[in-house]
Amino acid sequence: MTTPSKVLDRVLVLEMVRVTEAAAIGASTLIGRGDEKAADAAAVEAMRAALNELDMDGTVVIGEGERDEAPMLFIGEKVGTGNGPAIDIALDPLEGTTICAKAGPNSLAVLAIAEKGGLLNAPDVYMDKIAVGPGYPDNIIDLDKSPSENVRALAAAKGVEPNEIIACVLDRPRHEKLIAELRSIGCGVVLIGDGDVAGVIATSNPETTIDIYMGSGGAPEGVLACAALRCVGGQFKGRLLFRNDDERARAAKWGVTDLDKQYDLTELARGDCIFAATGVTSGSLLDGVKRQGGKMTTESVVMRASSGTVRWVKGEHRIG
Ligand code: FBP
Repeated sequence: MTTPSKVLDRVLVLEMVRVTEAAAIGASTLIGRGDEKAADAAAVEAMRAALNELDMDGTVVIGEGERDEAPMLFIGEKVGTGNGPAIDIALDPLEGTTICAKAGPNSLAVLAIAEKGGLLNAPDVYMDKIAVGPGYPDNIIDLDKSPSENVRALAAAKGVEPNEIIACVLDRPRHEKLIAELRSIGCGVVLIGDGDVAGVIATSNPETTIDIYMGSGGAPEGVLACAALRCVGGQFKGRLLFRNDDERARAAKWGVTDLDKQYDLTELARGDCIFAATGVTSGSLLDGVKRQGGKMTTESVVMRASSGTVRWVKGEHRIG
């Protein structure tokens, strides 16, 4: 049981939905317009404005990048009025910029909040990830085991054959070996073009039929997905992947001392935390923003680790 944080005011739970709604609506006019940067900029601007209305002393710990590469919502940026609790924020105003530009499934406006120090300050590097939903024995997944070993262990715990397991993997050339190995044992592989926050969360929803998430993606997205799994249950292991010394130096700058560490869910998102997301385009988690008859509709989810409460919020917003 996670102890409820006195810092994360209950009011903030619903306020977080306003923030992700604002970002999703901001990006929505650019769905399918082929302009990733413009869609991202619209989401960032709207999310920042909404965050700055809240009574909190917020610090972005996972954001759009470092100050010199991101004009807004950069790591270290202060958000909120400054009056209120000190809160760390991990955010991705538009998770799946390419999806949004191409009007594909599962682009989201996402954020997670925790007490100071609750979220790993993950540098913007890749992370090797593996995740399963709730209900399995602890440590059923392990990045030091092969993909087949992990699938076999999961299948045994689920009481099925490995060829009845479905894995979700980002469709990337770097995953060719992983996909081949999974298919060699009969495992079904759902390939996604982008958006591994939704991919990881899908393991916690039996309706998606996805049992396990595997492969590398963004480390910031890994922390965001962990905040969600902390609320709905599930297991996650992550290991930062570095392509060069610059990336290693960046990790060191953010306080990562053991570069080879296999992180567990609770090391990436500790203590009480709140996760919120609004659909930009429709997908496995949420419906996207829709405009009809002078109004816009949104669908959001907000959850809290300490209570395990998951709220699905449908919004209607007047246009103009
Ligand atoms: P963006 O929203 O930054 O475009 O990220 C989309 C995404 O698919 C993430 O969900 C994923 O973690 C990452 O990109 C994977 O990176 P890459 O596209 O370099 O394989």
